[in-house]
Amino acid sequence: MTHEVGVENMSNHASSAGRFWLGILVLGVSLVWATPLVAQPSSLSVHERGKVLYERHCAVCHGPDGRADTPVGRLLKPGPRNFADPIEMARLTVDRIYRSIKEGKPGTAMAAWKEVLAETEIGDVIDYIHSLSAPGKKAPLSSERLSLEVGRRIFQKECAYCHGVDGRADSEIAKILNPPPRDFSDPVAMARVDDGRMYLAIYRGRPGTAMGGRGELLAPAEIIDVMRYVRSLVRPLPAGMTAAQLDVRVGDQIYHQHCIACHGDAGDGRTSLGQHLVPPPRDFTKSGEMASINDNELTQAIMHGRAGTAMAPWGGVLNKDDVRRVIRFIRQSFSRAR
Ligand code: HEC
Ligand code: HEC
Ligand code: HEC
Repeated sequence: MTHEVGVENMSNHASSAGRFWLGILVLGVSLVWATPLVAQPSSLSVHERGKVLYERHCAVCHGPDGRADTPVGRLLKPGPRNFADPIEMARLTVDRIYRSIKEGKPGTAMAAWKEVLAETEIGDVIDYIHSLSAPGKKAPLSSERLSLEVGRRIFQKECAYCHGVDGRADSEIAKILNPPPRDFSDPVAMARVDDGRMYLAIYRGRPGTAMGGRGELLAPAEIIDVMRYVRSLVRPLPAGMTAAQLDVRVGDQIYHQHCIACHGDAGDGRTSLGQHLVPPPRDFTKSGEMASINDNELTQAIMHGRAGTAMAPWGGVLNKDDVRRVIRFIRQSFSRAR
């Protein structure tokens, strides 16, 4: 018994069906792909073959038109995928569809079909599924609008119960969380969450908080979609506030969060901690001294720290924008003209 048994069956020797079943026993599932072609005339097109299989196995849940609006489909939670919705389908790669059909989706009514459908049949069905979502008369969305809409759906399903339907972190759950979820509508708070940080927060979560990672659940493209949507929730800057003023506001927050213990409210370093340090913290109120140090030097000191002093490197905590902002705040708030 060799592999050729399967190949023979592929070319529709119905008479060899008996031998074929024996072949399955001996060779195992690797030959399953050959069975259906025995039963089906090969004159059918890929599309027709896919349709037959789809209607036989999938339509009861996903609906003949792919809309999943069937008596069975309506009972299921989660409901079957709606193949006719281009937005739901937008991020469903062929690879993911293939794996879902083959392995099923554990914990849902979507069973594994690998024992029933051969490889070639799975291919035919995937082709057919795609034909159900082929854009009809509707004007196709631009890729940006599509991404935003995919992001909105993910957000409402996965994020809104903590971050609020409009991102204001005002949900019932948000009120009991410590730390609270980020308020996405606040432009000052959001100015600190750059794209890299946001991606990481969604992918990996924020350890020690209720914010769990979604890297297993969302594909990279979906994370980008939901990021795009989150950005769309940020309110515009308050009337009259310039980008430079925003920088100073954000710098103020950073300073109060990370620097004030040593450098002090007044910026002169005379704090209970600062006065014991050797060398002491730089006195930001000495405008002559501050004028002699350029922004580049300040940036280096903040990012990399000052070896042998209490000034630690902040590069792992603050990104370049944060550093620029805190420098802006320091220069603007403390330097006294003398
Ligand atoms: C008993 C009902 C049922 C049948 C029959 C069924 N499905 Fe599903 N299918 C579901 C449900 C429910 C989901 C949603 C699973 C989820 O949310 O993760 C789903 C999801 C899917 C998905 C999307 C998977 C993903 O990764 O998001 C694909 C593709 C799919 N089904 C294809 C098929 C094909 C092809 C068949 C027929 C061979 C089929 N289904 C038969 C219930 C069914
Ligand atoms: C169970 C509640 C909960 C859910 C669900 C949740 N978050 Fe969060 N999220 C939080 C909390 C709490 C924080 C604040 C964490 C902190 O202070 O570091 C947060 C913070 C964030 C931040 C800011 C991270 C930073 O670096 O400051 C982003 C971005 C974010 N969430 C996005 C999302 C997205 C997108 C989703 C949905 C895919 C989501 N969250 C779902 C609770 C949640
Ligand atoms: C634990 C105490 C401590 C904290 C916290 C601290 N600093 Fe410092 N900082 C110092 C000390 C001490 C020096 C003086 C180092 C020296 O003399 O070389 C200094 C120096 C500086 C300088 C001047 C560097 C130069 O070239 O003279 C800047 C700018 C500065 N800190 C910014 C910050 C910022 C911004 C933060 C918060 C993100 C911060 N520091 C947090 C102790 C601290």
